[in-house]
Amino acid sequence: MAIVNMREMLQQASRGSYAVGAFNILDYNSMRAVIDAAVECSAPVIIQTSVKTVLFWGYEPIIQWYRQLAGTVSIPIAIHLDHCKDLSVIRDCIDHGWTSVMIDASSKPFEENLALTQKVVGMAGPEDITVEAEMGAIVGVEDDIHVKQQDAHLADVEEAERFCEQVSLDCFAPAIGTAHGVYKGEPKIAFDRLQQIAQGTCLPLALHGGTGLSDEVFLRCISLGCAKVNISTQLKYAHIDGFVDYYRSNDKEYNPLKNLAAQYERLKEGIVKNIQLFGSAGKA
Ligand code: 13P
Repeated sequence: MAIVNMREMLQQASRGSYAVGAFNILDYNSMRAVIDAAVECSAPVIIQTSVKTVLFWGYEPIIQWYRQLAGTVSIPIAIHLDHCKDLSVIRDCIDHGWTSVMIDASSKPFEENLALTQKVVGMAGPEDITVEAEMGAIVGVEDDIHVKQQDAHLADVEEAERFCEQVSLDCFAPAIGTAHGVYKGEPKIAFDRLQQIAQGTCLPLALHGGTGLSDEVFLRCISLGCAKVNISTQLKYAHIDGFVDYYRSNDKEYNPLKNLAAQYERLKEGIVKNIQLFGSAGKA
């Protein structure tokens, strides 16, 4: 049960009008915090890895952490590669045991995005690996994908429908006005477009750029069809602040395990709040 792909959990979330949190982990401590938070809430959860994190640690350590932590609990836990443009990294993740991948060819023209996405679905299908793809351009920085405000554009409804008809996806990520990183002002979310894309594609949608959205925005997006919510920047802040704040209050100690314990608690606390807000608590 514990080691699964995203298909069943996202379909159930779509049917139940709640969302599964997808949390970008940084290391073992943050993966442990995500899984323990989900166990505490009895929620399905997605361990999300950026390409940078994968290349920093290597495939094998990450998949071993996942197998060890997810393999001993009974809630469903997927491990998903976030925004990836590089088919060789996707291939390596599939070969090492990732249960889900995202191909991000959204900077390419429609036909090229579609062709690359079809190729990834062809690679993933035989291994029962789920696939997410993106359309439009989400502003901000995620990994080494940088999109400036002036280059950001929303997904087109008709194109989104046409895209999803031609490739068998498990999750679709249309740009709808959210941003990766820290919001500088109130984000303008295209709720109507989100609803039309959810209805037109009949797919669970991924809400990118979760950090910093208000509870109201989360709940509205979830009610309109977002079954997966991505949270990354929040974990980066908790990771550093949890560690540093402990040091500042105990600067003579030099006992790193205590800093790591404080980091873990800070990460877990935020993730539990997310899971409760997204409505996935009790749904494992
Ligand atoms: P944030 O960094 O804004 O939380 O976005 C996360 C995300 O969408 C990862 O793909």
